[in-house]
Amino acid sequence: MEAFGVDIGGTGIKGAPVHLEAGSLRADRFEVGTPQSGRPEDVADAVRHVVAHFGWKGPIGVTFPGVVADGVVQSAANMHPAWVGRSAEHLLTQRLERPVALVNDADAAGVAEMTHGAGRRRAQPGVHFTSGPTIMLTLGTGIGSAIFVNDVLVPNTELGHLEVDGHDAEKLASARARQVDGLTWEAWGRRLQRYLTHVEMLFSPGLFILGGGISRQANRFLPLLQGVKTPVVPAELHNDAGIVGAAMIAHQPQ
Ligand code: BGC
Repeated sequence: MEAFGVDIGGTGIKGAPVHLEAGSLRADRFEVGTPQSGRPEDVADAVRHVVAHFGWKGPIGVTFPGVVADGVVQSAANMHPAWVGRSAEHLLTQRLERPVALVNDADAAGVAEMTHGAGRRRAQPGVHFTSGPTIMLTLGTGIGSAIFVNDVLVPNTELGHLEVDGHDAEKLASARARQVDGLTWEAWGRRLQRYLTHVEMLFSPGLFILGGGISRQANRFLPLLQGVKTPVVPAELHNDAGIVGAAMIAHQPQ
């Protein structure tokens, strides 16, 4: 079976048809820049452009980098504030002329990793309460989180906005923070370790999965996280996880 996944980000909007059983892209993804206005209507047009590129007519799932409850955007830390309170699922359904499922970007990425990536080995019966939740963190423009308790998603957790040493965590330890603050891998690794130990103190996880495009360079920073007691593994679907997860959610009966 196939469905189409679109990942809306602060800089780019990317999409591809997805082979659901394999959890892989059926074609090279197509990406357009996020419209400069960042406004819902303009972004919806860009999503339409991505879908039209493939002439796709089937089910569609879309991710958004903010809290999404019942299709309504509740927060937009790195997007235009006009999104907040909008039924973006309805807007996209109108623009694309077919039902669209909308979900938080990190939740989508986490669902994909749990089924097809780094979390799949734990998604087995018998691995239960004592082993603690699996926590997927996406390190990109912001920090997104997806928590799985007994492999069931707790949606819309916002661990990227935990306060750590007086700072919003994503301003300290996202991939963008590394660039904006001009940090070496070592300096950024110290911040990431500080953040992960804070999350560890709060949740006693059984596993951390680190995603986002930066997960391709995991060999540069995983060795710097020796102070984290929880096992830390890189995401396996890297930057495709959001697209795959969106497509997986699209296919669920509405
Ligand atoms: C948002 C989250 C999102 C994350 C990654 C954060 O700023 O609040 O909802 O998952 O960025 O895009």
